[in-house]
Amino acid sequence: MNCRELLFQLNKTRTLTAEQYRFLLDERSAEDEAYAKTLAADLRKQIYGVAVFVRGLIEISNVCKNDCYYCGIRCGNANAQRYRLTPEQILECAAEGYRLGFRTFVLQGGEDPFYTDEVLCALIKELKARYPECAVTLSLGERGRESFAALKAAGADRYLLRHETADPALYKKLHPAGMTYENRMKSLRILRELGYQVGAGFMVGAPYQTNASLAMDLRFIEEFKPDMCGIGPFIPHKDTPFRDFSAGTVKDTCFLLSLIRLIHPPVLLPATTALGTVHPEGRELGILAGANVVMPNLSPVSVRKKYELYDNKICTGEESAECRGCLEARMRSIGYEIVTDRGDIRLQPTADR
Ligand code: SAM
Ligand code: FES
Repeated sequence: MNCRELLFQLNKTRTLTAEQYRFLLDERSAEDEAYAKTLAADLRKQIYGVAVFVRGLIEISNVCKNDCYYCGIRCGNANAQRYRLTPEQILECAAEGYRLGFRTFVLQGGEDPFYTDEVLCALIKELKARYPECAVTLSLGERGRESFAALKAAGADRYLLRHETADPALYKKLHPAGMTYENRMKSLRILRELGYQVGAGFMVGAPYQTNASLAMDLRFIEEFKPDMCGIGPFIPHKDTPFRDFSAGTVKDTCFLLSLIRLIHPPVLLPATTALGTVHPEGRELGILAGANVVMPNLSPVSVRKKYELYDNKICTGEESAECRGCLEARMRSIGYEIVTDRGDIRLQPTADR
């Protein structure tokens, strides 16, 4: 079967073997990419129309006990200027976000021991009391079943925990001993069992990544069917062991976005800030390839530069309202519309959208 036939089959059956994914990734032409993009954009339109969901991203802390080799806020980076937002500051960001039309708040940060269950549960309860119609998403790394359960009971709706890679050998090359593939995957299963809407995801073009490892990621997406899937290009950070590796490309990321839409049509798929960093129209290209979510920054401008996962991150000097306005204009320029909505996954197609 050639690539076009494989794409046709994927769109019909939602499944391919790892070998077939690898073949597609190795052999596809520009025409095949365009075909995948058309199929993915059609599917996304059937389910979500031209709506693009927004999430207000609040980067609550760049303190992290982990030492992931790719990440600019790893504990081993002595040059990082550390900060953490207080619950009051986080509530202020949310208030501004609510005014701007956000109905999902994403609290993201390093694995920072300051944010105990007690601190987070009080914060989540306060957010849900003030904004009952909003979703609270957490992206705070691996915390263990009890903690995940307490945060869920406090009102958290969703949890983003990229699996990083479904290839155990690659996982080892990206993380120091002590961080394990098994624990990452176990955490995702626990989150699902607890009733969270769960987000997985991976970097594209990470050091040592091959098309065989990406094929494993795609098989994992087929099996796990995450509600959200965050993928963006790897971008080197000057103070990490991976400083000399090259960044992932917009072309590979967009092709993978299309494939993920074909595998799991209702998935919530962000056009990430990293994609906007490697290309000036990266986020627009991501939406056109099948993504349906954008995550503008709601963090105070004073800390934005410090939450530097990779070099040259965009949006670090802009106010929240500017990011929101900028993305609205960008989406409109390609025929899409940012909506004021919690943006939950739609498991059934809606004909009228
Ligand atoms: N600590 C939480 C966790 O580990 O899930 C959330 C924060 S972590 C910084 C968020 C994501 O940033 C990671 O899952 C990783 O995929 C991505 N990331 C980290 N360093 C990156 C880099 N150099 N280039 C692109 N993405 C990166
Ligand atoms: Fe902390 Fe990666 S090293 S989030």
